Amino acid sequence: MIISIGCDHGGYPVKDNIVKLLTNYGCKVLDFGTDSADSVDYPDFAVKVCESIVSKKAERGILICGTGIGMSIAANKFKGIRAAVVFDEFTAKACREHNNANVLCLGARVTDIGKMSKLVKIWLETDFEGDRHIKRLNKITEIENREL
Ligand code: RB5
Repeated sequence: MIISIGCDHGGYPVKDNIVKLLTNYGCKVLDFGTDSADSVDYPDFAVKVCESIVSKKAERGILICGTGIGMSIAANKFKGIRAAVVFDEFTAKACREHNNANVLCLGARVTDIGKMSKLVKIWLETDFEGDRHIKRLNKITEIENREL
């Protein structure tokens, strides 16, 4: 699987660990930075990762900031992106099974690297259930396509 990754300075301390985990897992990783602890703006990195998914250069993405919240707000502005902020095993699984989340947002100031690695593995290994959830996701697509 090809996975894009991006972070801001809040997520930078854990990004390389997550890249290693993904690589060891057999994923090809497109790393969009940031590559230092200098302060940057998280939407810039959400844009790079989401554009790579929408243009089909990557299948899924991981965005890491301080809380995961800013990244998810920015990512969900893109048509076709279903970004989920996840803090525990249950939501890491449910966001794949029910929401077919193609972007995982993590908060490095709230989740330690051990837990984060578990959440990434669950998210990678869990499939979308389809079935009754399809019509719900179709309704989200309709919202995206609405002209107000
Ligand atoms: C940066 O200080 C912080 O606001 C950012 O990493 C993130 O938590 C935003 O949601």
